Amino acid sequence: MQECIQDILEWYQKNKKTLPWRQNCNPYHIWISEVMLQQTRIEAVIDYYHRFLKKLPSIEDLAVVSDDDLFKLWEGLGYYNRARNLKKTAQIIVNQYHGKFPCEYQELLSLPGIGDYTASAIASICFQQKKATIDGNVLRVYTRFYNSNLDIGLLKTKREIAGKIEKIIPNESGDFNQALMEIGEVLCIPNGTPHCENCPLNCRCLASKYKNYSLFPKKQEKRRKRVLEYTVLIFVFKNTYAISKRENKGLLHQLWQFPNIEGIRTKKQVEDYLKSMNIAYLKIKKFITNTHIFTHQKWQMVSYYIELEHPIKNNQLLFLSINKIIKDYAIPTAFQPFLKRIVEVDK
Ligand code: ADE
Repeated sequence: MQECIQDILEWYQKNKKTLPWRQNCNPYHIWISEVMLQQTRIEAVIDYYHRFLKKLPSIEDLAVVSDDDLFKLWEGLGYYNRARNLKKTAQIIVNQYHGKFPCEYQELLSLPGIGDYTASAIASICFQQKKATIDGNVLRVYTRFYNSNLDIGLLKTKREIAGKIEKIIPNESGDFNQALMEIGEVLCIPNGTPHCENCPLNCRCLASKYKNYSLFPKKQEKRRKRVLEYTVLIFVFKNTYAISKRENKGLLHQLWQFPNIEGIRTKKQVEDYLKSMNIAYLKIKKFITNTHIFTHQKWQMVSYYIELEHPIKNNQLLFLSINKIIKDYAIPTAFQPFLKRIVEVDK
């Protein structure tokens, strides 16, 4: 790969996407963009990025933002622990580093939510350190290039490939890293025929030579996801809808949701449940279903639209107009289809 470095850098200068976080090397901006880009497509991140920095232009602003405002800015990106860790790290940088980002890889790695990838991205893009960013795109480019059978699901593979790349990484380490990621994204694509004819790695790439790109990368089957079932209760009282805050632990903790109970319940079972809870209702009807896939869980959800005689007296529930919910409360993607359907029927 060493032989291709100059071509890779030239390809990047000619072809790199114009992206808002490529306007400068401000570590606060690079950090936010790189955390958002984990698990999310570049095009989808751009609006989130602008909105986030408009509301929180400096790391000091992030350190004092309320959790609810933070989650609202993050709504739809998923993996909300990333947002929680951004705030924790901002507080540490403001309080212990006088608001200045540390430039050493090891020091970056000690901060909440900053792992090998993010520390390498900040260290290379902002501080020209020779650290490699190993994401899914780089793993694909690398294993195809060398026809490597390494299992890319293993941490030790990522470390091994990082070590190999760091032996050859040029002084322009940030550009080199971003070039490899972007080549993986736009040329060495995961599905469909890669665009080898335009790739700066083409002349040395074994997958291109043997046309065997579809054999790489290798990855072991993942564990089966746990399936969980929920019945979501859409409580309606005079154009207001009940939401509750999820408890302080576990998946999606402290985000807002529509109240729900475990299991897939029939209408009769929900009616019995409402009676047992002394909840007086006027009408109940079956509402939409939804399936949501998380990293380790799959949620199967049914829902019921329940018109109430009077609001339920319960500190855990807030009755709000649908516009207020949309404007101010972070509803995770698993519950968004219910919100969208309510908007359609609320007219
Ligand atoms: N994927 C994640 N971060 C990236 C970056 N800075 N450049 C290209 N692709 C990326």
